[in-house]
Amino acid sequence: MKIDILLGLQWGDEGKGKIVDVVTPDYDVIARFQGGPNAGHSLEFNGIRHVLHIIPSGIFHREKTNIIGNGVVIDPITFDEEIKALVAMGLTPTDNLFISKKAHLIMPTHRLLDAAQEAKKGAGKIGSTLKGIGPTYTDKTARSGLRVCDLYAANFDEQYQKLLSQHKEMLTQYHYDFSETLPELEARWLKALDTLRQFTAIDSEYVLYEYLQAGKKVLAEGAQGTLLDLEFGAYPFVTSSNTIAAGAFTGLGLDPHFAGKVIGIVKAYCTRVGSGPFPTELFDETGEQLRTIGNEFGATTGRPRRCGWLDLVALKYALMINGVTDIALTKADVMSTFDTINVCTAYKVQGKLTSRMPTGTDEVIEPVYTPLPGWKEDISHCSSYDALPQTFKDYIRYIEDFTGVKISIVSVGPDRNATIFRD
Ligand code: GDP
Ligand code: IMO
Ligand code: MG
Repeated sequence: MKIDILLGLQWGDEGKGKIVDVVTPDYDVIARFQGGPNAGHSLEFNGIRHVLHIIPSGIFHREKTNIIGNGVVIDPITFDEEIKALVAMGLTPTDNLFISKKAHLIMPTHRLLDAAQEAKKGAGKIGSTLKGIGPTYTDKTARSGLRVCDLYAANFDEQYQKLLSQHKEMLTQYHYDFSETLPELEARWLKALDTLRQFTAIDSEYVLYEYLQAGKKVLAEGAQGTLLDLEFGAYPFVTSSNTIAAGAFTGLGLDPHFAGKVIGIVKAYCTRVGSGPFPTELFDETGEQLRTIGNEFGATTGRPRRCGWLDLVALKYALMINGVTDIALTKADVMSTFDTINVCTAYKVQGKLTSRMPTGTDEVIEPVYTPLPGWKEDISHCSSYDALPQTFKDYIRYIEDFTGVKISIVSVGPDRNATIFRD
């Protein structure tokens, strides 16, 4: 059986959580492959909105197995909060959520280091979510990190104290005062480890291999987006993991031969939180409208998201890198009042037209737009492709022709039911 991969094709917040929840009935297993509590995946059903950070978005389907893969970084405090919220809803996640022994742990000092390093960068800050993501992945690659399997080791406390004292030294070098914040955070963290220890830790690579051999269908859930990928985003304004399809193989320990569909989530416009290049960003009334109507405020940090027109140059790049087979288009309902909808079809860099993403972050990128007519109609009630206005269908066709990839899913609202499948 194949493993399908679902990921974001922009700067995150494309609506991955919603689409994972919607397609979960087609799968047996949902496995998160990277990122951590920097992610905020929202989904809605029965009039209630849920936001997940570390736990895969298939968790609301009780009969499905959910796996947190080795590529994920786990903050026990966030994990504990998420579990408590699920239990309060009557779910029993210990039954259907399994965690890779190889996933790394975010320590309280990782969060503080994130804050200290961002403060040190001043105007050049990444605008990180301050969840400790960068410092945790740094310890992973430096081969000094703590993993889930260490929780069960006799010398766990020794390992923890060793890393803690290194972190304290670093914080002191940054002149970061942790005397007030650390004790409280640490007490919560140590207590939250009890929750983590209640879950079955697995060798997810073996488990997934066995599932696939047994004919089970697996969906790999990505976090963030392609343009925040450590290698292919606008470095250094990126996250610290591989958000692209290749990340699913390292983040879960999969054999690439199992690759099936790659479902790329695309918002009908663009948003970005934090610093870094954003060629189609709008600083005017239209940008404000997108933010207000689209409720573009971070699901993790509450920060207002920067908003702009759909960028087809960046999208084509993301489609190429991920080998996307199917696009899920979200949030076009947000643009229902617009007379004209611009899409960026080329960049002008140093006076020259290009269809390629520049590598440097200092380049001044001027977007070249193709204006398309707006559909000027509420599409949020449409439940079939045929019911959509022709102008919107033309917009879909335009994107498909430009990119060469089919838009198989159209999302017209945050709810599970506001989803149109084209096949
Ligand atoms: P994720 O990080 O990719 O899972 O996306 P987020 O949850 O951070 O942000 C997407 C936001 O848009 C959430 O509030 C969703 O409930 C909402 N959303 C998802 N799809 C649609 C859609 O088609 N239309 C509208 N209006 N909202 C949507
Ligand atoms: P989901 O999964 C949007 C951004 C941060 C910052 C940069 C680095 O909900 O789409 P980090 O904390 O990872 O070191 O921050 O990446 N970022 C996200 N933006 N959605 C996310 O996740 C993000 N996760 C990180 O704002 O610019
Ligand atoms: Mg999000």
